[in-house]
Amino acid sequence: MSAPNSDFDPVEVAALQPAALERHVAEAVAAFATAADLESLAAARSAHLGDRSPIALARREIGALPPAAKAETGKRVNAARVEAQAAYDSRLEVLTAERDARVLAEQRVDVTMPVGRGRVGARHPLTLLSERVEDVFVGLGWQVAEGPEVEHEWFNFDALNFGGDHPARELQDTLAVGPEEAHLVLRTHTSPVQIRSLLTREPPVFVICPGRVYRADTLDATHLPVFRQVEGLAVDRGLTMAHLRGTLDAFAAEMFGPGLRTRLRANYFPFTEPSAEMDLQCFVCHGASALPGGEPCRTCSSEGWIEWGGCGMVHPNVLRAAGLDPEVYSGFAFGIGLDRTMMFRNGLVDLRDVLDGDVRFSLPYGAGLAGEV
Ligand code: DAH
Repeated sequence: MSAPNSDFDPVEVAALQPAALERHVAEAVAAFATAADLESLAAARSAHLGDRSPIALARREIGALPPAAKAETGKRVNAARVEAQAAYDSRLEVLTAERDARVLAEQRVDVTMPVGRGRVGARHPLTLLSERVEDVFVGLGWQVAEGPEVEHEWFNFDALNFGGDHPARELQDTLAVGPEEAHLVLRTHTSPVQIRSLLTREPPVFVICPGRVYRADTLDATHLPVFRQVEGLAVDRGLTMAHLRGTLDAFAAEMFGPGLRTRLRANYFPFTEPSAEMDLQCFVCHGASALPGGEPCRTCSSEGWIEWGGCGMVHPNVLRAAGLDPEVYSGFAFGIGLDRTMMFRNGLVDLRDVLDGDVRFSLPYGAGLAGEV
């Protein structure tokens, strides 16, 4: 800035000469008008309106003018600045609107586009079937009981009246867990939950025990090393085989249709006496062995009956192992394989499908159940 000077003529100061100011304004207006985007407009702003721009420098010279010249020169410089600023403002408005429109166009979201939906999973058919069995028995007033899958040999065998040399204890049938002296096995059936239930409840005991069981079997279409069973146990005063029969008939009717019956054939299990194999009347041919058109029934291989599980009256030794007096209490028990039930009930052909975890296996079953309810 020049020093104050009383005989100073603004027209002599180059920066303040009207022609110079007009040129600065014209240059500023041209620069703003030709700025193609907000970035170059910002650069033009700092060149033509910034602290070091010719118009700003001219403003600073005003302070050094003689008082008489200040007002008139000040007005001119200010008018120049206002004009340049207005040119900048209008260009800024245009470029901002252009930018906003472009961003909107570029980032447009088409809400009608199909989205990449994550596939929804499905609950496993065996879980659903197991819950269905539970529902049937809860409806009869029974309770659901559970036990551990790693089980002590005493619960899995001894308390269930298996002799010390029973072949089921052999390693080729039973999977041991840890060292032999730990006496831990992967439970080979759900029957140990009978003992656990009797030890933790007072009779009358009516429990249904679904769960996974393990056997040293090689995986193929009809064998799984891990499969599911459902165990039933009823212990009270005065229970007889007739109660067992009635319960099984009610169970069969709930699962396969009204009027379907069960049939018992003598068999042997260490933990029941007498013991029986339980057959289910074929729910397709209803025991006729053939379909109405005369074709053989494939569901029961024209037997009229389907093997469903084992059952019997609880052995006195089992009641004793659980601390109950067999002179006072009696009971019945049954056990079915859920995977096997699914084979004939739902036409499952290859048991390996239940372990594969393919949702295409699970979805139709769930849908079928929904339709069934
Ligand atoms: N625990 C037997 C098995 O795994 C099935 C069974 C048979 C359970 C007879 C029972 C029963 O409760 O009474 O083969």
